[in-house]
Amino acid sequence: MFENLKAPPADKILALMQMFREDPRENKVDLGVGVYKNAEGVTPVMRAVKAAEQQIWEEQGSKSYVGLAGDPAYSAAMIQLILGDTVARENIAAVATPGGTGAVRQAFELVRNTNPDARVFVSDPTWPNHVSILKYLNMETVTYRYFDRETRGVNFDGMIEDLKAAKTGDVVLLHGCCHNPTGANLNEVQWREVIALINAQGLIPMVDIAYQGFGDGLEEDAMGVRLVASSCPEVLIAASCSKNFGIYRERTGLLLAVSQDASAQALHQGNLNFLNRQNYSFPPDHGARIVSTIMNDDALRGDWAAELEETRLGMLGLRQQLADELQRLTGSDRFAFLAQHRGMFSLLGTTPDLVEKMRVDNGIYMVGDSRMNIAGLNKQSVPILAQAIVDAGV
Ligand code: LMR
Repeated sequence: MFENLKAPPADKILALMQMFREDPRENKVDLGVGVYKNAEGVTPVMRAVKAAEQQIWEEQGSKSYVGLAGDPAYSAAMIQLILGDTVARENIAAVATPGGTGAVRQAFELVRNTNPDARVFVSDPTWPNHVSILKYLNMETVTYRYFDRETRGVNFDGMIEDLKAAKTGDVVLLHGCCHNPTGANLNEVQWREVIALINAQGLIPMVDIAYQGFGDGLEEDAMGVRLVASSCPEVLIAASCSKNFGIYRERTGLLLAVSQDASAQALHQGNLNFLNRQNYSFPPDHGARIVSTIMNDDALRGDWAAELEETRLGMLGLRQQLADELQRLTGSDRFAFLAQHRGMFSLLGTTPDLVEKMRVDNGIYMVGDSRMNIAGLNKQSVPILAQAIVDAGV
């Protein structure tokens, strides 16, 4: 049997991670995988996470199974963080999942099992693993225009025009905030227009929110997902705690099925539980317990939010420094978009050839589509990157 195995398609983000590790150059710069790094290039364990882990270690008396949906305290804390008070709790079915990717996968499977004809509309571009998982599940994917390669902002007219081709029951995948890979985001007026179109055409919105707190702030970053959840009849939400709690390897995610019909909640919950049971049975608990411990303790929560805010402001500072440096070197404002983008990523908008040139000549690692992880920079590496961008002729 094993002789029939074929090499799986390479994941470009993970392949880049490996290449970076193998590069012996001291001054190499890692702008690849979406992991936060501080000025020393370290991905720290957040203070509140350490404290919560200590508390869990002292108080936890058992590691027995929790439940198919995970710990209800975790779901409750995450629903509050993501949706605030915009949707009644009895309208929401929730399961813990292994990471945000687990939630994305479960959501797609729910769609496929319920409506095999549904097509999934994804932004052009989107996180490559969205497309990869859809392909793996044999689901039809349609791209909608999203990134304007001239302005490096959102091509909103193109997006609306393309979404008009969606039919009743099709799914529209939206990034809740901090669009990955572009860094270009919808404003409130645009969110409302997309929601109106979704409702007019009977589409199912699915919101992937993996970077809440990295853009304009915890509450501000939830604006879009809250509007969708309170305005559309049926909504899927995939959330991740990897980045905003810095607990990447703990695999802590959440899938929500929101409807405006509380009487169907038990059915929705049963289906989400069933999906968990089929795929991995009980979801991981340690990361979820860290999150609920932090969110249910005012002091820990305050410290976590403060550290996250420092992280967010640090990234904004790096964005501004890079835009200023490029302005100084080129005498033009054509890189001003870098300071306007939000979140961990910006799509520089150049060719794979020039991305490869910067890697070979300068040891700068960005994903081939020219996605840069801004958190991979520090004050010293910003001028190096700016010079490399100019030298490459971007
Ligand atoms: C990324 O986009 O770099 C992250 O979401 C990590 C991943 O799994 O690809």
